[in-house]
Amino acid sequence: MTTHHSPVVITIDGPTASGKGTVASRVADALGFALLDSGALYRLTAISAINAGIALTDEPALAHLAGSLEVNFTADKILLSGKDVTDTIRAEEVGVAASKIAVLPAVRAALVDLQHRFLRAPGLVADGRDMGTVIFPDALLKVFLTASVEARAERRYKQLIGKGFPANMGALLQDLSERDARDTQRALAPLKPAEGAHMLETSSMTIEAAVAQVLAWYREAVQIK
Ligand code: DC
Repeated sequence: MTTHHSPVVITIDGPTASGKGTVASRVADALGFALLDSGALYRLTAISAINAGIALTDEPALAHLAGSLEVNFTADKILLSGKDVTDTIRAEEVGVAASKIAVLPAVRAALVDLQHRFLRAPGLVADGRDMGTVIFPDALLKVFLTASVEARAERRYKQLIGKGFPANMGALLQDLSERDARDTQRALAPLKPAEGAHMLETSSMTIEAAVAQVLAWYREAVQIK
């Protein structure tokens, strides 16, 4: 008898700079799964809007932009209309702009299909804010990463400096707090742990330990299934 297995989904949600991107990409590598960096889609929409001179409040124009993004994720690059924007979209002002347009329902709706299209066998690791609550509610494993705002500001500082961007700890702390408030308090798909999510507090945890914990939960979930 043949059984058909639909692709497995692991969701990793959490606030900005909680380490979810790195953890998600290492878990995906370890399992040979595809990866969805959903925050990149909001960042790509934001940068397209900035480039096109579209106001970050013009919901119909932004939704149209989000629905017609020409993106290509390769193993280590993100291309927007054929142009390499891998590093550009990591700039702090792009993150802030992404968080602003992410409150708009039409923008979120326009990105749903694109996110679902990342699903493929044998599995997908999806990271973001609403992966476990809205986009992949039936995921086999849901993880919610947290870390103190200080630990996250320090991580973001190192990440920005490493990419050659200017960075200032005080400004970052304020940015992260404002972004947390916006992402948590918005009406649609706010940042919150999905029901049944495993909580992982990573302030004083190495990336390796966080990855090992997620893989252990995954093995457990597969056995229970
Ligand atoms: O994870 P990130 O910092 O790259 O995300 C940038 C912004 O995009 C974040 O502040 C809020 C928004 N976002 C969202 O609303 N939903 C997601 N699933 C991912 C990101």
